[in-house]
Amino acid sequence: MDGAAELVFYVNGRKVIEKNVDPETMLLPYLRKKLRLTGTKYGCGGGGCGACTVMISRYNPVTKKIRHYPANACLIPVCSVHGAAITTVEGIGSTKTRIHPVQERIAKCHGTQCGFCTPGMVMSMYTLLRNHPDPTLDQLTDALGGNLCRCTGYRPIIDACKTFCNTSGCCQSKENGVCCLNQGINGLPEVEEGDETSQKLFSEEEFLPLDPTQELIFPPELMIMAEKQPQRTRVFGGDRMTWISPVTLKDLLEAKVKYPQAPVIMGNTSTGPEVKFKGVFHPVVISPDRIEELNVVNYAYNGLTLGAGLSLAQVKDILADAVLKLPEEKTQTYQALLKHLRTLAGSQIRNMASLGGHIVSRHLDSDLNPILAVGNCTLNLLSKEGGRQIPLNEQFLRKCPSADLKPEEILISVNIPYSRKWEFVSAFRQAQRQQNALAIVNSGMRVFFGEGSGTVRELSISYGGVGPTTICAKNSCQKLIGRPWNEEMLDAACRLVLEEVFLPGSAPGGKVEFKRTLIVSFLFKFYLEVSQILKRMDPVHYPSLEDKYESALEDLYSRHRWSAVNYQNVDPKQLPQDPIGHPIMHLSGIKHATGEAIYCDDMPTVDRELFLAFVTSSRAHAKIVSIDLSEALSLPGVVDIVTEEHLEGVNSFCFLTKPEKLLGSEEVFCVGQLVCAVIAESEIQARRAAKLVKIVYQDLEPVILTIEEAIQRNSFFEPERKLECGNVDEAFKVVDQIVEGEIHLGGQEHFYMETQSMLAVPKGEDREMDIYVSTQYPKGIQDIVASVLKLPANKVMCHVKRVGGAFGGKAFRTGIMAAITAFAANKHGRAVRCILERGEDMLITAGRHPYLGKYKAGFMNDGRILALEMEHYTNGGASLDESLLVLEVGILKMENCYKFPNLRCRGRACRTNLPSSTAFRGFGFPQAGLIIESCITEVAAKCGLPPEKVRMINMYKEIDQTPYKQEINAKNLSQCWKECMTMSSYSLRKAAVEKFNSENYWKKKGLAMVPVKYPVGLGSRAAGQAAALVHIYLDGSVLVTHGGIEMGQGVHTKMIQVASRELGVPLSDVHLRGTSTETIPNTNVSGGSVVADLNGLAIKDACQTLLKRLEPIISKNPRGTWKDWAQAAFDESISLSATGYFRGYESSMNWETGEGQMFEYFVFGAACSEVEIDCLTGAHKNIRTDIVMDIGHSINPAIDIGQIEGAFVQGMGLYTIEELSYSPQGVLYTRGPDQYKIPTICDIPTEFHISLLPPSQNSNTLYSSKGMGESGVFLGSSVFFAIHDAVSTARRERGLLGPLKLNSPLTPEKIRMACEDKFTKMIPRDKPGSYVPWNIPI
Ligand SMILES: Cc1cc2nc3c(=O)[nH]c(=O)nc-3n(C[C@H](O)[C@H](O)[C@H](O)COP(=O)(O)OP(=O)(O)OC[C@H]3O[C@@H](n4cnc5c(N)ncnc54)[C@H](O)[C@@H]3O)c2cc1C
Ligand code: FES
Ligand code: FES
Repeated sequence: MDGAAELVFYVNGRKVIEKNVDPETMLLPYLRKKLRLTGTKYGCGGGGCGACTVMISRYNPVTKKIRHYPANACLIPVCSVHGAAITTVEGIGSTKTRIHPVQERIAKCHGTQCGFCTPGMVMSMYTLLRNHPDPTLDQLTDALGGNLCRCTGYRPIIDACKTFCNTSGCCQSKENGVCCLNQGINGLPEVEEGDETSQKLFSEEEFLPLDPTQELIFPPELMIMAEKQPQRTRVFGGDRMTWISPVTLKDLLEAKVKYPQAPVIMGNTSTGPEVKFKGVFHPVVISPDRIEELNVVNYAYNGLTLGAGLSLAQVKDILADAVLKLPEEKTQTYQALLKHLRTLAGSQIRNMASLGGHIVSRHLDSDLNPILAVGNCTLNLLSKEGGRQIPLNEQFLRKCPSADLKPEEILISVNIPYSRKWEFVSAFRQAQRQQNALAIVNSGMRVFFGEGSGTVRELSISYGGVGPTTICAKNSCQKLIGRPWNEEMLDAACRLVLEEVFLPGSAPGGKVEFKRTLIVSFLFKFYLEVSQILKRMDPVHYPSLEDKYESALEDLYSRHRWSAVNYQNVDPKQLPQDPIGHPIMHLSGIKHATGEAIYCDDMPTVDRELFLAFVTSSRAHAKIVSIDLSEALSLPGVVDIVTEEHLEGVNSFCFLTKPEKLLGSEEVFCVGQLVCAVIAESEIQARRAAKLVKIVYQDLEPVILTIEEAIQRNSFFEPERKLECGNVDEAFKVVDQIVEGEIHLGGQEHFYMETQSMLAVPKGEDREMDIYVSTQYPKGIQDIVASVLKLPANKVMCHVKRVGGAFGGKAFRTGIMAAITAFAANKHGRAVRCILERGEDMLITAGRHPYLGKYKAGFMNDGRILALEMEHYTNGGASLDESLLVLEVGILKMENCYKFPNLRCRGRACRTNLPSSTAFRGFGFPQAGLIIESCITEVAAKCGLPPEKVRMINMYKEIDQTPYKQEINAKNLSQCWKECMTMSSYSLRKAAVEKFNSENYWKKKGLAMVPVKYPVGLGSRAAGQAAALVHIYLDGSVLVTHGGIEMGQGVHTKMIQVASRELGVPLSDVHLRGTSTETIPNTNVSGGSVVADLNGLAIKDACQTLLKRLEPIISKNPRGTWKDWAQAAFDESISLSATGYFRGYESSMNWETGEGQMFEYFVFGAACSEVEIDCLTGAHKNIRTDIVMDIGHSINPAIDIGQIEGAFVQGMGLYTIEELSYSPQGVLYTRGPDQYKIPTICDIPTEFHISLLPPSQNSNTLYSSKGMGESGVFLGSSVFFAIHDAVSTARRERGLLGPLKLNSPLTPEKIRMACEDKFTKMIPRDKPGSYVPWNIPI
């Protein structure tokens, strides 16, 4: 052993030697903190988001090959990179040297908004190009599958990456000789080009070419090291952990004898998350390095032997090769494995995780173990005592000691037998999201028939997700041997398996009835699959399947995605140098892509900086009996713990109308409430100490979690809100029919990629405090910090450079955390940093309000709704926050696009024991809109009319009045609706969908179109005021400052466009440094779709003031430059600095009279979506979406389109897959990307068309533009209603004609359970109340 080992590796071509590395350190903090390479981002710490993607390159001295692969730096122990070359985003290009084509294209194609995900995206793409300079679209989507983006909706990222594909923009699979770009869906025509619109947001001609010869080479020194270095075990010792890296098999086996309990770290994708999230600690770990025996690939006579050390990505390639090489009958198991390897995790995890690690971990949801188990695989084990083989069977999976590895044994390789003739293997899985999501249930199934006999000789069935590990239905299979493969056998099999694979009602993970249904649905799919092959092999003896049943077997509709954007042309009369209306790239786009854009936690450490970690309540409602800090305080490095006592007199703050507590003191009201804050010298110390704070609680009653419980107990925030117009009661008397219903909407997590981050720096003089925060509301931060520090606001300055996504979630709660951080900084006179981990962030901050909407509609048989009564209930959580405002906005926007002559809507915000719900993009409208559209869908069903007809009948006419008596000109609404109908070829596609549905029983398509009217305004003039400051320097350059926050929405880019137009200076001469309370005081919160409009008007004002002052100078020298004019102004003592101001739009609402002029304007739009669902699994695929929006005169169509599609995809997530899960005690389970699924690249519509209406009306807004930030969220509901349509069709076909109640999100579970059939009827159901469910619906 090499006792004093040196860790040697390269980062971006530079050698790094580490002598005293702590084995507990991961590569991500090492890169960020030690090497100051902050381009690689932290998003989740668990391998689930891709923000930390780097490229790892390793040289293999045996094969003499270099392997480049993407990996998640957050899960790579730094000790494991010995001998590797690491490339981070900084290593491939920068603005200081040259930017890489990937960086350039992602920026120029508008693939960045907040930019926080961008370095990860860039590195995934870069690594793909290193391996495949000319990738296919499949490879491209595969490469990006492990990277999440919360802003863009992925379309522009795909567009950027597609420019590297050989036939850019094309599917490359020329079905029927026709390229995908030319053939319409279902053979129908595509978007027509108009004169006033353009279709290209970027120009490919100007891109740098990809030149592989320019890439960093693999360091020759590492090659020599690999070839020549003595084969000695490396040992690294840290404070608590020892890392042993054997490089020969012999040493590995010896180490395992010496430390039998030490885990063998391969990819660390299983051990890493356990250590990080479950508190598991290993004092010693063994990490084999380059042991060739673990990487064997051997085609033996009985099967393929694969080394346990091969990564899952390598296994995928080897199996793909085997499938090509070997006869089909031999590769059944390989094909099944390949199917799951395509969707298992993302590319990074597949490249890190090893086959051995996967098998030995025996995760309950392992995708491969069920297949390996049914495939009769054997495991080759080795220890110092010698080798042996064990079967990968049920006993092994259950970790029976007699069938398991011994502590000193190593798994060397796995033998996967070839399949035989008449043997069939299949794999099934269903997850919340199609890709990169752990399966809810998965399965491997194998049957073997004697030659031509048609009777079952061998049968194996295994399931994952339904027990503590993979479960084998052994007894059931045994009983079915000898049975012919027919429907009676299937029926018996279903009953047997359901009995054997028993799942109690309280099973962990919940979704029990869904899982039971999947167990039998998969079995049915297997039955059909095998029957179909048997029929093909022996058409005489085996009956054909009915055509319409065959649809059960096909994968969901999937074609390569492509998109079309149609946007407005710039007015030909506009000056060529005027940038307004042009698709200008995001100001920071290139810096996002190179990793040079600085976010809060990228700021360098301040001298003697401390770290703050919060301790939060673990009870939903309890009295705090005692808090014991002693153990935590005794840990080395711990400096202090801030409790409520320290904050005496300042422990509450009033943001709106009600004061909120900062730290919980005597009583806590939700899990996740802040109780105290540990301050320590380092992040690790602070986090460790936080875990040692002991709080004794006494549970209190009541614990109210759901809206229903709140209603029952009358637990509301005051007041109730009501809006009424016409005479509802009278109208109900004259209508033909009345329908009553309700819909429940779950909440939504913001999932901004940058977690809550802040750094408080005491200035050391006059008690001044600078606070750098990732926030939408710098003034709010300044106020609360000043209050806690008992300082005037002029001593506290809040600075925001940029925010890595916010969506409403970085205002009030951020303020509370910032105040405590600043308090600690002030107390100790040292800078304090606080960066939340993803799980903490999700637990503490909460998000969109869950809603319950009840409706009663009175309507005529022709679809006209004459009377409507509504009740809105929101789950506001434990404190008021913005709940009342959200409720009010929801009520004011509840009618969406429809004129209901007689309407009454009441709303209550419920007080519950959940973390406080808060603002979220759309602010109540996405919920209120879904309620009314559900009501319309139900009315349409009752009238026997298509929903779009009922929508049209009730839509606002050209000039109309809202329920609160504000005038509305809805001309553009009907224009959008009509254009969307045409663009989507709605009626032709509807017929095509009907045809498809009549021919397919197990797959159904659905089509839906929804309109949107999104009123924009803030409710008061004061809330809309904005200020700006513009300086002109003597060299002619311009500095612009305004009160808006750049959080990805491109406001700074638009502001520069405004200054450029107003002053007539080129964009390149205008600069913007960020937002600060020092330059712009008293700013409003950035949100509500109006940031660019209001601040732009303020900038315009400042520029006009300057122009007015400079007018005499300019007219004296009209051909002069800005430099000349600035100098002349200076010489004449004319100020070159001006503030600008916009007072805000008039806005008011009188809730007493129910009348008001709340909104400045309305954004109109419409979306049409088509989906396909799998009735047996509940999966859905969004086939195509068409969106038409009226956005007035766009200031920057690329940014506006980005906002529309990003919001649409976020809305799609809200209504379909984003599902929060809480325990019956109110503990949030979903605390990271592994449990909470936001849309990824696989979820976006296969085809996506966006078209902007040509500008028609002029208005008071900035250059007659409209704010686009929020309206698109609601358009995601078109996917909800398309699924609704598909499910209704399935139910009708099954004879289920009653009303259909579908809540949001419409998850695979809800879709599957709504498509009732013989399988849903077959499963056992638990009596409500007979068990405690694992989770409860909120
Ligand atoms: C973000 C993310 C997404 C994921 N998604 C999926 C998914 O969709 N489907 C799915 O099935 N899985 C998924 N996984 C799980 C993943 O497949 C496993 O974590 C992985 O395969 C484990 O391999 P590893 O090499 O990283 O194991 P490690 O973490 O290195 O080791 C795991 C365990 O195996 C033991 N071990 C490893 N190798 C040997 C050996 N040769 N001999 C003896 N013992 C050994 C170790 O002692 C340790 O206890 C996901 C994981 C992550 C982090
Ligand atoms: S931070 Fe590493 S994957 Fe999310
Ligand atoms: S741009 Fe992708 S997360 Fe913001």
